Amino acid sequence: MADSTETPMFEIENLHASIEDKEILKGVNLTVNRGEIHALMGPNGSGKSTLAYVLAGHPAYEVTEGSIRFNGEDILEMEPDERARKGVFLAFQYPTVIPGVSMANFLRMAVTNVRNARAEAAAAEGGAAQKMTPREFRRLMKEKMALLKMDDAFATRYLNEGFSGGEKKRAEILQMALLEPSMAILDETDSGLDIDALRVVSDGVNALAGPEMGMLVITHYQRLLNHIKPDFVHIMMNGRIVQEGGPELALELEAKGYETLRAEFAAD
Ligand SMILES: Nc1ncnc2c1ncn2[C@@H]1O[C@H](COP(=O)(O)OP(=O)(O)OP(=O)(O)O)[C@@H](O)[C@H]1O
Ligand SMILES: [Mg+2]
Repeated sequence: MADSTETPMFEIENLHASIEDKEILKGVNLTVNRGEIHALMGPNGSGKSTLAYVLAGHPAYEVTEGSIRFNGEDILEMEPDERARKGVFLAFQYPTVIPGVSMANFLRMAVTNVRNARAEAAAAEGGAAQKMTPREFRRLMKEKMALLKMDDAFATRYLNEGFSGGEKKRAEILQMALLEPSMAILDETDSGLDIDALRVVSDGVNALAGPEMGMLVITHYQRLLNHIKPDFVHIMMNGRIVQEGGPELALELEAKGYETLRAEFAAD
């Protein structure tokens, strides 16, 4: 096996993907290493959410070319839940409503499932298999809710039903905090957040980020990047990454908009 310091954590290579025979992603290359925060920007309809869905394994999208490797392992053939168990997490741009399922129950199922599967995998490799008990789950949930400054009552509410836009986003971050993924993809987690909520969510994300975690943050606005500082910024246009740089690129975009890039990378 290759030295782990040389294997990129998350590597997207020449990724092409279609939906209903329409090609949306036209050769995306992007590598995220442990401890790195990457921002993905780009105009509406450029393919950012499509990329997020394809990475998470959404069945509606067909990958026609290219590869996605996680710790050197091809994940394209894996089902979404298997990817999640391996440590890939996607926070949706438009979270779904699940009537009748309380937040606490949903999270307990999702988190216990993923954590127990990880424990089993560790046990298979000779490690200790520590299954999570309901009591441990409650303790962990309390701890993470405090970290995200969430009210305890939040946990008993039904998932996303009647949640405000900002509450849905917080719920997604809570789920992320509980799952402790090694690769997190956040699709417009900032949209619809008021200034205080933006800070709380950003603080939460920053508290979770660390040397072991890679992050891909999809956003339209520099203001999120004032809180979550990216190491790299990528601009997507028409299904490809057309420009890359450091945090200064986001500032430049804010000032100039997409017009110059649009002229250069018009739809084909
Ligand atoms: N089911 C579908 N059928 C046909 N086209 C689709 C479908 N889903 C997405 N598309 C198209 O794919 C393109 C990329 O959409 P996507 O949602 O990835 O853009 P985005 O960059 O996330 O945009 P935004 O910034 O508005 O969120 C758009 O032109 C969209 O209309
Ligand atoms: Mg989108």
